[in-house]
Amino acid sequence: MRTYKIAVLPGDGIGREVIPEAVRVLEGVLKLIGKQSFEFVTFDCGGQYYLETGKEWTDEAQEFVKTVADGVLLGAVGANTADGKPVRRPDGNLAGYSIVIGLRMDLDLYANVRPVKLYDGVTTPLAGKTPHDIDMMIVRENTEGLYVPMRGTLTRGGEDECALDVRLITRKGSERVIRFAFEQTKRRKGAPVDGKSRVTCVDKSNLLAGCQLFRRVYDEVATEFPDVQRDYAYVDAWTQWCVRSPEKYDVVVAPNEFGDIMTDLGAVIQGGLGLAPAGNIGESHGVFEPVHGSAPTHYGKKDANPIASILAGAMMMNWLGERRKDRACLQVGTMVDAAVAEVLREGRVRTYDLCNGPFSNVIPSSTDKVAKAILEKASEKAERV
Ligand code: IPM
Ligand code: MN
Repeated sequence: MRTYKIAVLPGDGIGREVIPEAVRVLEGVLKLIGKQSFEFVTFDCGGQYYLETGKEWTDEAQEFVKTVADGVLLGAVGANTADGKPVRRPDGNLAGYSIVIGLRMDLDLYANVRPVKLYDGVTTPLAGKTPHDIDMMIVRENTEGLYVPMRGTLTRGGEDECALDVRLITRKGSERVIRFAFEQTKRRKGAPVDGKSRVTCVDKSNLLAGCQLFRRVYDEVATEFPDVQRDYAYVDAWTQWCVRSPEKYDVVVAPNEFGDIMTDLGAVIQGGLGLAPAGNIGESHGVFEPVHGSAPTHYGKKDANPIASILAGAMMMNWLGERRKDRACLQVGTMVDAAVAEVLREGRVRTYDLCNGPFSNVIPSSTDKVAKAILEKASEKAERV
């Protein structure tokens, strides 16, 4: 039996609180099914680490992540100095960002997969919508668009005059992420409203050349999937349709910066960032993380919701299971998902962010208590089968 090596990068702030809990849940469930072939190796990194050492992470950590790890679990990066200002590198970039963005580029993690699913027992701010209405998968392009590191500033005579960000859209970048999005429909039940497999192309092709290319490539790739319904939306219009009729969406694909914004909207309609996981996936690597940031002001309160990270861990297990044809990994992914769903459905143990609506009388639990309840639920369920 091969040993899987997982790089664990908690990063900053609440990343340091939620990621260890996600690892605890994964290790616990692996033990439940008797699979001992996992090694989780944790490395310090991020803005705080930069403040202390002058580096965002060690060479050893980079080497491990890039050449040894079978999968990566990442928390969040971004720390504040004692006077409350974000820690920056001399080039002005936030310390730690070269890990998040750098890994997406260096490992060519071209698809950022962000499921938006409303669980039973979670309140959505959308009036009248239920878990039957909200279950989509947003696939965000992850290596180009406005995020390409082709940017700069012009200073003349000491005056900071002009700044330029390039928005690059390529045929290669579009084609692979769009095909990835179409492939996702095979694993899904279709859109909540009609059970139809559908891929919605979200862009701004009424104006932008890059988006026109993106949409042309979408049309080409769509011909490979005749059973999947085509659907188009301009990004501005999509945000209102997403709020009005989320049940229409099955898989949604978008260029990088649009996907960034759309997935925060997605997170809020599924009950908040505390529940939103992400997988950054390429041909040979996968980095899994919560969508939320490091929330430095929450760090130390032990009140952050660990579920986004726990679900990211489950995504990693499902991804490993599929790639390596390893049923045990798939089983862990399924068990973790089911335990999270059950704990949410029961509604008794939850962090403060979910103590709202019909749950406003629930006394909030701490980060570790929620993780513990999920693990206990997984063992209860395992005993019953
Ligand atoms: C995300 C984050 C990142 C992004 C930040 C941390 C650079 O907001 O993963 O959505 O913009 O992609
Ligand atoms: Mn974001």
